[in-house]
Amino acid sequence: MEYRPLGNSGMQVSTIALGCWPIAGMTSRGVIDENSIATIQACFELGVNHLDTAYMYGATGESERLIARAIQGRRDDVVIATKGGLHWEGNNRVFDARPETLRRQCEESLRRLGTDHVELYYLHAPDPNVPVAESAGELARLMAEGKTRAVGASNVDVPQLEAFAAQCPLAAYQPVYNMLQRGIEADALPWCAAHGVAVLVYWPLLKGLLAGGLRRDTVLPEGDSRLKYSMFHGQEWQRNHDLLDKLRGIAAETGHTVAQLVINWTIHQPGVTSALCGAKRPDQIRDTAGAAGWALTESQRARIGQALRDRGAPDVESPV
Ligand SMILES: NC(=O)c1ccc[n+]([C@@H]2O[C@H](COP(=O)([O-])OP(=O)(O)OC[C@H]3O[C@@H](n4cnc5c(N)ncnc54)[C@H](OP(=O)(O)O)[C@@H]3O)[C@@H](O)[C@H]2O)c1
Repeated sequence: MEYRPLGNSGMQVSTIALGCWPIAGMTSRGVIDENSIATIQACFELGVNHLDTAYMYGATGESERLIARAIQGRRDDVVIATKGGLHWEGNNRVFDARPETLRRQCEESLRRLGTDHVELYYLHAPDPNVPVAESAGELARLMAEGKTRAVGASNVDVPQLEAFAAQCPLAAYQPVYNMLQRGIEADALPWCAAHGVAVLVYWPLLKGLLAGGLRRDTVLPEGDSRLKYSMFHGQEWQRNHDLLDKLRGIAAETGHTVAQLVINWTIHQPGVTSALCGAKRPDQIRDTAGAAGWALTESQRARIGQALRDRGAPDVESPV
């Protein structure tokens, strides 16, 4: 495994991190506690030291609670990130990043995680009714009190990153980024590089689409939340599979799986610190962890670039 600095926090994170959304069991099907705990524990043997969760991962914080169970006796071996400012009311997401809400959610997350601090606490998403600077100010206070060692911001744009960083030391930025969603390359990635902010990207496998496990003739079962995205349907689906066929060819040359190739490409994009790879079973994170420790050749990266240009601009909905 490879490790990179978490901004200016003094901490290091593995280039492959475990995304702990699937184990919340809210979208991915067939999630069971034994597998979820085994997935987290597999990280110790793989050198994956970073776990990414959130207050809203599970109706009552199932993801954070499973992490607490899985890391018993190994607390010092993990860099835990959680997030506040988004929660569920029934099936609806509520954006509430008022200072008092962030404080209450942070304290609740610490109780669920069975710890007195986390290494990284993010603003999950900006609240349209609260200036980002106000949310950032509360996160600075939580850091000063030792409830988190470092602070990050997710789903914000560059002006919001600037407003945030003016109020609170900013160690990490968490945007969506993958081969088909590359908007941050224009502005946020260079901004973070210039300001020493780590970039930990989510959806690197585009919810499993780029992992290669879904075949062209796969019919997603009713109730699979991915059905709401156009990239899993019709012409977009076919175009994505034309791309995957090319990626499979390059992956075979490297002796790696498609998921490994996609994540390897991602963590070697300039400015990317780490890929948050979702998994609900140990075999998934074992496979993904094999993306670290090697590099695609220049010619392979060029062929991937060409395959992406051939695929054309995707029709991808915003995740948040
Ligand atoms: N800040 C934010 O707003 C935000 C938003 C979204 C996600 N996140 C973070 O980013 C993480 C990653 O996002 P994600 O979990 O939604 O999506 P992802 O990492 O792009 O994809 C995860 C899915 O890919 C499949 N998969 C994983 N490894 C595989 C492998 N080796 N072979 C075949 N399939 C594999 C699994 O699908 P199956 O379920 O079909 O097995 C898994 O649920 C999250 O867990 C979370 O920590 C943050």
